[in-house]
Amino acid sequence: MFITFEGIDGSSKTTQSRLLADHFQQTYDVILTREPGGTDFAEKIRESMLISSIDPVSELLLLVSMRYEHMKNLILPALVEGKVVICDRFIDSTIAYQGYGLGVDLKLINNLHELAGIRYPDITLILDIDVKAGLNRAKDKNKYEEMDVDFYNRVRQGFQEIAKKEPSRCSILTNIETMDNSQVHNTIINEITKRLV
Ligand code: TYD
Repeated sequence: MFITFEGIDGSSKTTQSRLLADHFQQTYDVILTREPGGTDFAEKIRESMLISSIDPVSELLLLVSMRYEHMKNLILPALVEGKVVICDRFIDSTIAYQGYGLGVDLKLINNLHELAGIRYPDITLILDIDVKAGLNRAKDKNKYEEMDVDFYNRVRQGFQEIAKKEPSRCSILTNIETMDNSQVHNTIINEITKRLV
């Protein structure tokens, strides 16, 4: 099973992906991974990507190639071995940040992923938080976190649109800013259980 976490910066998806991995570890073999990154090669590119300003289309091309490496070398082999793979950000972050946030053509994003044969997750948990609350929580400032509130509102709207378009894959958890970590975790377990029965 392949599960991804999505949301704007500060939406607590990193904490929640760890909590979910701990929960599943009691029963399954779990791989917890993240993007941008997930392989040695992609983690090296991540470091430059999060500080350098490059053209959004170049960034998209890099993200797809990093995702291809990640998919081919880590995610697919783990899924074939029957493991649960939990990934902190995946394809929907590219649609929300590069597409809705930076204005890259959504068709180009989808076509490139199709061309690369990127497998979609089975379940995607979208953590929807108020932009100001999210940005106040975000700790290590990367280049995106220096963008303005309008950019983040577009990114947030992007995630909301994805949830609307793909309800069979995506669960959106709203009002994250009003919940503590254990409430969010319990809601996530309920959502996953509902989808598995
Ligand atoms: P993330 O790992 O969530 O940041 P951190 O853990 O340092 O808070 O993600 C890093 C940034 O990368 C985040 O601001 C969103 C951006 N990003 C994209 O713009 N497109 C993508 O496809 C992905 C995977 C991430």
